[in-house]
Amino acid sequence: MDDAKEEIRARLPVEDVVGQYIELKRAGRSLKGRSPWGVDKTPSFMVSPEKGIWHDFSSNKGGDIFAFIMEVEGVSFREALEKLAAQAGVELAKYGGGDKKVAERKRRAKEALELACRFYQFCLTKNEKVQNYAYHKRNMTQGTVQEFRIGYAPNQGKLLVQFLKKRGYKAAEMEAAGLLNRWGGDLFKARMMVPFIDTGGVIGFTARILGKGEPKYLNTPETLLFNKGRFVFGLAQAKEFIRQNGYIVIVEGNMDVISSHQAGVRGAVATSGTAMTENHLKMLSRLSGDVRLAYDGDAAGVKATERAIMMAGDLGVNLSVISDYHGAKDPDELIQKDPKLWQQAVQNYRPAVDWLLDKYEENLDLTTGAGKREYSDIAMKLLRYVSDAVERKHYEKLVARRLDCDVEDLHAKKIPDESVQRLKKANFEAKSDVLQGVKDNLQAIVLYGKVTGVKGVELPAEDDQMRRDELEMVFEMRYKDWDIATLEREAQALLVRYKAEMNKQEVETLNAELEKLGDSEEDQRRQEEILRKIMALKR
Ligand code: UTP
Ligand code: MN
Repeated sequence: MDDAKEEIRARLPVEDVVGQYIELKRAGRSLKGRSPWGVDKTPSFMVSPEKGIWHDFSSNKGGDIFAFIMEVEGVSFREALEKLAAQAGVELAKYGGGDKKVAERKRRAKEALELACRFYQFCLTKNEKVQNYAYHKRNMTQGTVQEFRIGYAPNQGKLLVQFLKKRGYKAAEMEAAGLLNRWGGDLFKARMMVPFIDTGGVIGFTARILGKGEPKYLNTPETLLFNKGRFVFGLAQAKEFIRQNGYIVIVEGNMDVISSHQAGVRGAVATSGTAMTENHLKMLSRLSGDVRLAYDGDAAGVKATERAIMMAGDLGVNLSVISDYHGAKDPDELIQKDPKLWQQAVQNYRPAVDWLLDKYEENLDLTTGAGKREYSDIAMKLLRYVSDAVERKHYEKLVARRLDCDVEDLHAKKIPDESVQRLKKANFEAKSDVLQGVKDNLQAIVLYGKVTGVKGVELPAEDDQMRRDELEMVFEMRYKDWDIATLEREAQALLVRYKAEMNKQEVETLNAELEKLGDSEEDQRRQEEILRKIMALKR
């Protein structure tokens, strides 16, 4: 696998891989850009083409192209490797490695799906009924049909199966691609086919019935390639626009995405209906911190918006809501009326919290005590997820005004503590980032600042060239022009902070263990031991 990694690294310059996500500008020997994770407005993301690495000074993350894809796409190392291998034209199977069989099965499934997609596209050109539906009923242009690779699955029982069989695919392979029904025939029949496309190609389909009938959409089941919780419809087509325009629009339906793109709002994507997962949002938040939800204003839309807020708190995403559809039921319907109305709606967004608080107000009677209690219950629960203290205060005051009470009254309410666990986790993660930053600086000075008086700093291994390169970049960015004496002082100060942060973290870990201990004799002994350790650390 190391050989494969090297081969891929040699073929894909780091600036090209990163450049697909971030606009990079030359700055001396490095390239600079805006961090996909940072909140700061100045470029804090550095790429060194010579060393093949990147470092983000706002989040203290860094590494090579694989680390970048893992971070930015929210995927495992294996997935990052596969993705970059595909881009580099490196065949992983040749290099052996653990998941050889799985990789091969995926490759075959992908090929089968690509062929199926072409087959369906061809069938569309032969069927007037679906053309009529696509071009006239749904008003798609030729360009849209081509870009989204819209097709048609014919009505006969086994046409696709026969087609793939002739090309050497076994039933098991078609099955693995999610193309078969349970009797071994074509899963999709007499439907308009919309492929799920990710950066690696076609991974599945959603298929719409041409008239009325159930189900309206039939989707590829979960397969090796297609996972509902990870896939974002339209993202492959939207990425470029999102990067250039800095915002994402999340709509409910796949057809809303397609219409939206056609109407020029090309940053629209969909997560199967309102079922957005944390994983979806994490992935999207890395592309942009400005996420606009265009869900229906019904109960499901409210629920989905609430869920999104709970997830967004930790991710530093600005969530807002687009809701002015001029009476249309969804973006597609609005676009059919007039694409301009949708373009305007997308610029006419409100912070999601404001929108939700208004919705709650609409649904409750705030002139009664019970109404006020209920309103404050749900509002305060919601506001817990607003992670910025100043922003939260703003909303608390707003809620207090609406209820004609004081913020202190709101705080005095007892609200079940479901979210505390989450908040703890978020705090802990934030702290470990601070620690990472201090560690980066300290190690950089000791390694590249030629200071001698600083002892007891743990350094990366001699052969960990990548980490050493990264630290060199940190040094060049921060400390290049410092004189030795100042560096020495900085290093001493950092060392003190580093030890303090380490202690703090260890105390937290120990505290977490304490919470789990029971009253058995063994647990009691452990408890004493931990308490002694904590005292020592705090001294
Ligand atoms: P909608 O029914 O709102 O979709 O479902 P839509 O885009 O407005 O459909 P059209 O305009 O009538 O063609 C929203 C999403 O929910 C999922 C699909 O992902 C769809 O895009 N869905 C809906 C299904 O998976 N199956 C269904 O039968 C219905
Ligand atoms: Mn619709």
